[in-house]
Amino acid sequence: MRVGVLTGGGDCPGLNAVIRAVVRKGVQVYGYEFVGFRDGWRGPLEGDTSALDVQAVRGILPRGGTILGSSRTNPVKVEGGIERIKDNLAGLGVDALIAIGGEDTLGVARQLHENGVKVVGVPKTIDNDLNATDYTFGFDTAVNIAMEAIDRLHTTAESHHRALICEVMGRHAGWIALHAGMAAGANVILIPERPFDIEKVVGYVESRFKTRYAPIIVVAEGAHPIDGQMDVQTGELDAFGHIRLGGIGERLAAEIEKRTGKEARTTVLGHIQRGGTPTAFDRVLATRFGLHAIDAVHDADFGKMVGLQGTDIVRVDLSAATDELKTVPAERYTESEVFFG
Ligand code: F6P
Repeated sequence: MRVGVLTGGGDCPGLNAVIRAVVRKGVQVYGYEFVGFRDGWRGPLEGDTSALDVQAVRGILPRGGTILGSSRTNPVKVEGGIERIKDNLAGLGVDALIAIGGEDTLGVARQLHENGVKVVGVPKTIDNDLNATDYTFGFDTAVNIAMEAIDRLHTTAESHHRALICEVMGRHAGWIALHAGMAAGANVILIPERPFDIEKVVGYVESRFKTRYAPIIVVAEGAHPIDGQMDVQTGELDAFGHIRLGGIGERLAAEIEKRTGKEARTTVLGHIQRGGTPTAFDRVLATRFGLHAIDAVHDADFGKMVGLQGTDIVRVDLSAATDELKTVPAERYTESEVFFG
């Protein structure tokens, strides 16, 4: 059996741990051969491969990024893209594919499966917004990076009596903002699922200043005010139709300064949240996902994604994972509101 492996979408700490586990178990236990596809779906689309054997995965467990490279190439948008992938897989003698990615990469995996390709998915995203898994790997690392940054912002905010805003990733789901904000004691957390009332945010900021403690506002990049309250920036679209976000932190700072007369400054964590070495939690989760993904290939259980439910790794249909995003439920946000202001 020859198995192809690819990593697609935004990179994420733990990708290499998955690749290592897939290859180690695949070679040692099942006697499989592997082909690495370069840069997400671009690899199978263009037949761009790299060697993937036990030697190639030595030492990569703690390394961030992905040894296979990644991209947001969307083969469904390319004329004849699905057929080209099928032809290239056949030409390379690849019997099955393991696709490691988020909603976009796994959405393509699902369409390929519906077109007869033998594919198994592994859920990856720092955003933690994939359904049918309690956690995606990479999320814990991103939250810890953001938490540490917010801890540092606290001390400097207090020294200068400033409002400091920390903008974190999270396009449609505010998981990183919620967890990092809760872990680091944010004054207020703003997430895409809950349009915010700028009057209320200003109220929280002012009440925090009254207690002689500097406010920290954690805002997800996709958060937005109630319609008409503030001007929000939009950007260009990527191949999957997502707007390139960024800018809500700066907008908020300007608005808070205007309304409170206090200095407000923004730190955008950006790709720092995705870079570097994974936490122990993510290494273990990614490794377990890899081991179970190659088991699914061995069982010929295609069209599935491995997921974490409780402490068990389960298999779910790719459709269950990609039909809709896992957003922050109202009750989880309500829990955090106790600490606002
Ligand atoms: O999906 C992961 C993610 O990091 C999102 O949180 C963020 O909106 C997006 O990727 C940014 O993508 P890029 O690095 O391509 O701009």
